[in-house]
Amino acid sequence: MSLVNTKEMFEKAYIKRYAVGAFNVCNMEIVQGISQACRELNSPVIFQVSPGAGKYAGHEYLKSILEVAVEENNIEAALHLDHGNSFELCKKCIDMGFTSVMIDGSSLPFEENVSLTSRVVDYASRRDVSVEGELGRLQGIEDHVECSDERSIFTDPMQVKEFVEKTGVNSLAIAIGTSHGVNKFGVDSVPSLRFDILEEIENLMPGFPIVLHGASSVNENTVKELHRYGIDIKNAKGVPEKMLKKAASMSVCKINIDSDLRLSITLAIRKFMDENKTNFDPRGYLGCARTAVCELVKNKILNVLGSVS
Ligand code: G3H
Ligand code: 13P
Ligand code: ZN
Repeated sequence: MSLVNTKEMFEKAYIKRYAVGAFNVCNMEIVQGISQACRELNSPVIFQVSPGAGKYAGHEYLKSILEVAVEENNIEAALHLDHGNSFELCKKCIDMGFTSVMIDGSSLPFEENVSLTSRVVDYASRRDVSVEGELGRLQGIEDHVECSDERSIFTDPMQVKEFVEKTGVNSLAIAIGTSHGVNKFGVDSVPSLRFDILEEIENLMPGFPIVLHGASSVNENTVKELHRYGIDIKNAKGVPEKMLKKAASMSVCKINIDSDLRLSITLAIRKFMDENKTNFDPRGYLGCARTAVCELVKNKILNVLGSVS
């Protein structure tokens, strides 16, 4: 199978009330682990490359690895630019063969966001590439840009309709309480999402696919195990799986996951290193990380996304 854009993927997901997992990739083992999981469960998938991952591995490298993986595993997959931060980067990825791009104008004033997003939509739609926009601001860290609690803003449903009509975006990332990274909710706070906003948006725009960023669950046991193997992260808390499941059964058609991959990979490598003191062959620990990615993605598909066909 070759790479596809996200339009039909989302149409199917919306009707069948599941979400497609969008996993951040930056090397071969991550791509292979995700691909194997999706092949085994016959699930569609979105591979996404952040500007940072593009700088680290090279967009062309990642695209080539992905093409081999998709072909070999015969999976329905899109290649997506995550958090595109300029028209130029979106154009570069579109010209290179990405099938979907995100233009993240969420930190701009509304009209500037509209104008930048429209420019990308105009370029992308003539090449059959789908575009994700963002409205509202997520708390947390995006590509080393930190957004503090006070600057994060829930998405206004009325603005969504206006934004989608003015820009023609194919999907939209909204802020309903999720955030990037592993510290999504305060130490003493109970995790909650604004499902009322999601519902209001669906009432205003039935059929329109919504995207949830910052949707890692930050498994408690994984964090405990990581502590045991010496990693020092504090107050880690993610979005509970049952909330994501609920979102997937509503109009959320794409759920972004990066931090959970990072945690699983790091745990697998730290554990392998600890248990194999004489090993210095990267195939040992990277192979272990690949297996951990595959297991994580299978669990996500079965327990959160519901994207098994
Ligand atoms: O949205 C954030 C993603 O986790 C990408 O993170 O910018 O460190 O690659 P990164
Ligand atoms: P997490 O940090 O919750 O995994 O979110 C990833 C993301 O939104 C990538 O765009
Ligand atoms: Zn994101």
